[in-house]
Amino acid sequence: MNKKTFVIFGLVLALLVVVIPYWAFERDGDVANNRGISSESTPGKELFQTNCGNCHALYAAGTDGDFGPNLDQKLAPAGPAADKAAIDGIHTQVMTALEEGADDPNVPGRMPPGIVTGTVAEEIADFVAQNAGKG
Ligand code: HEC
Repeated sequence: MNKKTFVIFGLVLALLVVVIPYWAFERDGDVANNRGISSESTPGKELFQTNCGNCHALYAAGTDGDFGPNLDQKLAPAGPAADKAAIDGIHTQVMTALEEGADDPNVPGRMPPGIVTGTVAEEIADFVAQNAGKG
């Protein structure tokens, strides 16, 4: 094998080994996102971990905060919400808690209003509504 053939062979091999799997991997990610499948790191999940996870356990987010109630138990005691009405109900409950805070005298601790607002609050409420009760 002369030197030129060797270099070309090397380039082809690099294409097969590195570029194609990378391309396929990237493409998979796009397809999953386009279908709206919640991949491992949805924005809502990350936002929940950052803003809520210190105080709340939620199985789907992998958080185990115990200052506030476990949200799997609090929001979907019978398991994940199955129908749209139930998901909307949880969404509303989360948004209300975020906007007004929560200070139930029967529950230890209180949650101040406005920990997150606007689209961040919406993203988190969507994520929680879709996933509460999976743990
Ligand atoms: C500083 C700790 C803390 C943080 C951060 C926090 N919470 Fe809370 N949360 C609490 C406590 C404590 C309660 C219980 C308050 C009560 O019911 O009186 C609570 C209650 C709740 C409730 C139940 C309200 C109800 O309907 O009774 C929801 C839903 C909730 N939190 C969602 C969230 C979300 C979503 C986030 C992130 C944006 C978040 N919390 C961040 C402490 C926290």
